[in-house]
Amino acid sequence: YSTATPYTTLPSVLLLGPPGAGKTALTTLFERGPQDPSTVSGPIAKTHTSQVPSSIELSINSDDPATSYKTNLDEEGATAKKFLLVDTPGHPKLRAQSLVHLSSAEPTIKSSLVSDGGAKSKIKAVVFMVDAAALADGDALPATAEYLYDVLLTLQKRFHSRNGSRAPASMPVLVAANKLDLFTALPAALVKSSLEAELGRIRAARSKGLLDSGVGQDDLAAGEEGDWLGGDGSEKFSFAQMMEFDVDVDVIGGSVTGDGPGAEKWWKWIGERV
Ligand code: GTP
Ligand code: MG
Repeated sequence: YSTATPYTTLPSVLLLGPPGAGKTALTTLFERGPQDPSTVSGPIAKTHTSQVPSSIELSINSDDPATSYKTNLDEEGATAKKFLLVDTPGHPKLRAQSLVHLSSAEPTIKSSLVSDGGAKSKIKAVVFMVDAAALADGDALPATAEYLYDVLLTLQKRFHSRNGSRAPASMPVLVAANKLDLFTALPAALVKSSLEAELGRIRAARSKGLLDSGVGQDDLAAGEEGDWLGGDGSEKFSFAQMMEFDVDVDVIGGSVTGDGPGAEKWWKWIGERV
């Protein structure tokens, strides 16, 4: 017999990111994928600020995760693998609710957020969406990086919260640099380096705050309980430092609307991880 928590058979992918990044627009795009866009009434990404998380059920071609989200898998006779995409609100006051799901060794999301009553869905990956056009002009960068810092730090602390010798499951993170259809948008490589530099600044500021507040060097060196993101003793922050905690970060550019690179690369990334 088993007294283990019942799991739904469906894993989930958690979609995080600041307000206005395009999370709900992406969710809508993937949901409507198999349809002919000309038959969809209204603009595809007509969205409003999200206040509660919501999830949709999606299918990938399990034989070929690179199959477009626009493909109707039933018609193609392909083997579909289903998962849940959980769209969350980006508003700072509502973030803690999203982060709480990531803090345990085996991250799950509660049944009230996904349709299957009484069960929990395993979180297989995190997509952190950013507005690459907003990042180009100043204010959005610190705000976006603050949120990403908290997401990555939550995942890092999770690594230390292991039960016994069993290591927590690794957690892939996709930083989806959205809105590359806009000519003002930063290309993905610049989104990556800007975020890394800003995360480094936040890290330095937070550790200075700790020093000022009387936390000793020894406590900081111990590291594990501190707010120091990434590897010890490193001058600069890079996403690669998160590998030490089994957090694998990729930065990929794309667009939900307009004439841009589209969303297929993100879809493929997700498909390979669910
Ligand atoms: P919250 O729910 O507040 O956290 O925001 P969100 O991340 O869900 O943003 P949402 O999907 O509501 O999109 C915000 C705005 O960005 C909408 O007006 C979208 O149409 C627009 N948008 C989304 N993706 C793109 C894109 O690829 N290019 C452009 N130009 N606009 C986009
Ligand atoms: Mg939204």
